[in-house]
Amino acid sequence: MSTSSSTAAEIDLKRYFLKIVFVVFGVLLICFSIFFFNHHENNKYIIETLGHEGSAEEGDALFKINCVGCHGITARGLVGPDLHSITQRLNDKEIIKQVTGGLTPPMPSFEIDPVNMSNLLKFLHSLE
Ligand code: HEC
Repeated sequence: MSTSSSTAAEIDLKRYFLKIVFVVFGVLLICFSIFFFNHHENNKYIIETLGHEGSAEEGDALFKINCVGCHGITARGLVGPDLHSITQRLNDKEIIKQVTGGLTPPMPSFEIDPVNMSNLLKFLHSLE
């Protein structure tokens, strides 16, 4: 008698642990998919931007409208830092994040479409 009741308890325990394993697995799966989804979303903009050739002249015009107030008319720096040889210190992805992210106030985040972002990148590459 006592053997069969302990077996039932064992089965209960196994079911309990199995449930926990399923719950933990489910939560991990949700976390991973959220991470992957966000990661994928962020990259879409960057991939599209890097897919364009970009035009330094167009980028120059954009720079004169949006950036010279802080980075200076020759991009030698004012409120914001000198941007010459910036492309040797930051990679394209980091520059895109700098311009669109708004992570370093007082520099604002710019809502800029991929074509114009690639133009700006091309311009910054021409500042070497
Ligand atoms: C309101 C002022 C302001 C404007 C407008 C502005 N920036 Fe900035 N920017 C800054 C400041 C300040 C920093 C330094 C932030 C820090 O590192 O804390 C900076 C940093 C940067 C950096 C990184 C420099 C480094 O050495 O790491 C890049 C690249 C940059 N800006 C590009 C741009 C571009 C391109 C534009 C126009 C689309 C722009 N910024 C417009 C103020 C500005």
